[in-house]
Amino acid sequence: MLPGEEKYPHIFSPIQIGKLWSKNRIKYASTETNYNYSDGFVAEKEIGYIEAHARGGSGIVTCQGAYTDPRGEGQGYVGMMGVWDDKFIPGLSRLADVIHKGDALADFQLMACGRVGGINLPYTVGPSEVPQRLRRFRPPKEMTVEEIEACIQEHATGLGEQLKLASISLKSQVSWAILFPISSQHIPIRGPMSMVETSKGDPLS
Ligand SMILES: Cc1cc2nc3c(=O)[nH]c(=O)nc-3n(C[C@H](O)[C@H](O)[C@H](O)COP(=O)(O)O)c2cc1C
Repeated sequence: MLPGEEKYPHIFSPIQIGKLWSKNRIKYASTETNYNYSDGFVAEKEIGYIEAHARGGSGIVTCQGAYTDPRGEGQGYVGMMGVWDDKFIPGLSRLADVIHKGDALADFQLMACGRVGGINLPYTVGPSEVPQRLRRFRPPKEMTVEEIEACIQEHATGLGEQLKLASISLKSQVSWAILFPISSQHIPIRGPMSMVETSKGDPLS
């Protein structure tokens, strides 16, 4: 029995979400660790970290946000994992595998960090050239509507099926271009979209 199970039986009871069943109502939230390689490949340390959380008892385990573009505009952390090329699939698959071994649903987060991204670039991208209040961020380059459309396309990676993920989450706090451009000054507002977007593959079957 897990700590708290007796006192809070409802939280520990199974729940159906769409076509999927979670063994309980606990979700491990996405947490950027900075553990991965600076070129976006998943590191052993990240796999060990996620494995520990999957063994901890959550019904759903979310991986840290991954950036979606080859330019690195979406990369907000030196040790952030990338999801913009098939070459990352072996490492990402291992993350999904250790989550499934812990009898949990694998949720994967896509996170283009917008104007707090471009960690290895001399610029960031944003909704306008209005300077950021925090001086440690470089001045943003205003994205064109075409660039925003391309950014949206880059989120459609199709990795959900290949990794047998239960779901893919989209991070809206920093991925303003695809979700909720609350800080937008010059571009048409398009959001918000649903937070949990797809449900492909059932790791429990
Ligand atoms: C170190 C750290 C990294 C985080 N990384 C992410 C992330 O990659 N994606 C995300 O959606 N939230 C991220 N969060 C937010 C957490 O998932 C969580 O929503 C937040 O910490 C609030 O939950 P709490 O009150 O249980 O701490 C991060 C939080 C922390 C402390």
